[in-house]
Parts: sequence; C-alpha cells; structure tokens
Amino acid sequence: MSRLAPLNEIPADLVSARDYERYALERLDGNALAYLQGGAGDELTCQANLQAWQEWALLPRMLRDLRGGHTRCQLLGDSLQHPIVLAPIAYQHLFHAEGERASALAAGVMGGAAVLSSFASTRLEEVAEVAQGPLWFQLYWQGSGPATLALAQRAEAAGYRALVLTVDAPVSGVRNREQRAGFRLPPDIRAVNLEQAVQLLPLPEGGSAVFNGLMAVAPGWQDVAWLCQHSRLPVLLKGILHVEDARLAVEAGAAGVIVSNHGGRVLDSQWPALRSLASIRAELGAGVPVLVDGGIRRGSDVFKALALGADAVLIGRPYAHALATAGALGVAHLLRLLREELEVTMALCGCRDLSGISGEMVQRL
Ligand code: FNR
Ligand code: LAC
Repeated sequence: MSRLAPLNEIPADLVSARDYERYALERLDGNALAYLQGGAGDELTCQANLQAWQEWALLPRMLRDLRGGHTRCQLLGDSLQHPIVLAPIAYQHLFHAEGERASALAAGVMGGAAVLSSFASTRLEEVAEVAQGPLWFQLYWQGSGPATLALAQRAEAAGYRALVLTVDAPVSGVRNREQRAGFRLPPDIRAVNLEQAVQLLPLPEGGSAVFNGLMAVAPGWQDVAWLCQHSRLPVLLKGILHVEDARLAVEAGAAGVIVSNHGGRVLDSQWPALRSLASIRAELGAGVPVLVDGGIRRGSDVFKALALGADAVLIGRPYAHALATAGALGVAHLLRLLREELEVTMALCGCRDLSGISGEMVQRL
C-alpha cells in the first residue's frame, strides 16, 4: 500500500490531536507505526493513560473578570507562552525527513520548550542551532557517572537549559507490537549522540540477561545524587510514580520530577501518572517543579493536570503524529490547537491565568 506524503499546508479538517493521529496513520509505514503507537505487553498502561483524563470532570465558575488572561508560565527560570512541553521521543527521522530539528523549531516558535532524547537521530548541537526556545536534554544513564556527565556537559555546552534523567526504563519493555511487526531501525537512522555503546559486563554462565545485563550497570539513588552534584544544569527525574520516590528524588538533589509511566512503553499494567500527581504535589509542596505526561490529547487534559498539581505537561505521540503529517508546520499547529483549547477551557472555567486553575475545579467522576 503506498503511503501519502507529508503535507505543506494544514487542511481544514485537521482540528485536533486525534485528527493528526488519523493523518499520521496514512503516512507512516508499518515499521514506524509499530514503534510509535505501541506499548509494552497488552498495552494496558497505554489504554489506562488515555482513560485517566476522562475520569475527571470540570466544575466551572461563571461571571468572573478574566480581562488580560493568558497561559504564560515560568519553568526552570525560563518564561514560556504555555505549559505544554514536547516530551523526549527517540529517532524522529522515522517520522519526518527533518526529524528532531522540525520539532524543536516548532516548540520554540510557539513559545514553548522541547526535550531532546538521548536516542535522537540528529546531533544535539544541530538541534540547538535551529531551536528558538529553551531545550532540555533527556539522559539515559550511560553505564557510569563520568560517561553520563560527559554527555550532559556536551548538552550544556550546546546551550541546553536542563537535564531530564529518565529512570523508569533501565531495561527495555517487552513490546509485542514491535516484535510482531519485526520492527527495525532503517540503516540510516541511528542514535548519533551516543558515541560509545554502554559497556556491559560479561554474562556469567546461566546468568539472567536482564539482571546481569543492563540492570547490572543501571543507576541507583547514589548515582542520581552524584549527577545532581556534578551537573551545573538542573536535573529533573522522569518516570516517577511513587510518592516516596518523588521525595527521594528531591533529597538526591533533583530540581523536580516528571510523573510518568513512559507512555506505557516499558512496564505494562501500571496505573496512569495522573493518579500519582496530587499526592506527589502534596509531598513536595509548592515551588518544586512537578510535570506529568501520558495520554494528554486535549487542552482540557492540560487544565486537569494543572488543577491536580502539575506546573506543566509533556506530550509525546501527538506531536510525532503532527511531525509525520506536516513537519514543523504540523507540530506548531498542534501546539496552537492545544493552547487554544486550554485558553477556552480556562475562560469557561473562570481562570485568568494558570495560577487560577485550582483543585476545586475538577472532580473525580
Ligand atoms: C518515547 N518516550 C521516551 N522517553 C524518554 O525518556 N526517552 C526517549 O527516548 C523516549 N522515546 C520515546 C519514543 C516514542 C516513539 C514514544 C511514543 C515515547 C516517552 C515520552 O517521552 C513520553 O513519556 C510519552 O510519550 C508520553 O505519553 P504520550 O503523550 O505519548 O501518551
Ligand atoms: C522508547 C525509548 C527509547 O520509549 O525510551 O522507545
């Protein structure tokens, strides 16, 4: 079946994140789709992530004075036009010829921030050159402190403003959808920023490939503390779900946490990140950045996240769909749609700015 080419302009019927998914399904091949759409195991976590936002309803307030309203916020010292950050997504050349550069460009043009994956298929310096707004760099532990710090320092030298250490995927999830499709990276798409593969220890006879393989060189809390101490950039920990881990993160020196289950791609049968949000905010108190991701598809979902204690949200698959559909133009348009949905939700709920979004405005169904 022949695939459709990316668009150069936005058709009139492309009006939501869901529409971008429909367009992307017509443009990506089965290989890229298996990687992008899939999750671990039976994809129960993926489904739960989408469902979670629908379990909360809005309780709006009327007749308030909303003149001068806006969606601006401050995040890790930067002023942003809206609280919607592009999540780290690996290998974006699978989705569009411009790959990560297009996403970063779109985020900046729309006044927001983007996170570049360790597994980006574009050199981090090249992405920084085209970006017009704050970029954060997502780190996977590189097997040792010095190797991880060297990568972090490269990102710092290129102008990245923060580090996002992903802690929920020390080994890959079992992704049956990818296995069934025989997913393979095309030969010209690589993780170009990782010059050296993580050095594994020799596998003892009869040893578990999981526990004696990647888990044997996985980081622990003391490594997180070491990285936070040695990095000049603020470090967010991504993939926190337990309230106690959120506390340990801050104790180890993290600047904040991203409450996330990795879009359901690593461990199946987890609960949605949204469920952990309010308790993590309560534990950390105001002032520590708490972000959330997983299943956010509407501006009203962003509103709910903020009402339950998030400072900002990340979106993953929706912007990969927009990238596949229309490159940087698509990603910028998607961000505009989500921001406008957020603005309309705020206006109809009686919130002039993000600080006006409060816990009483959402109710569990
Ligand atoms: C991801 N995600 C991810 N996270 C991370 O820390 N490093 C990475 O390299 C990647 N790569 C990646 C690839 C693809 C194709 C997807 C879909 C996701 C997870 C991502 O940052 C984010 O947590 C989820 O995508 C959020 O869920 P939604 O918005 O996709 O539902
Ligand atoms: C993923 C890894 C790269 O989710 O984080 O595909």
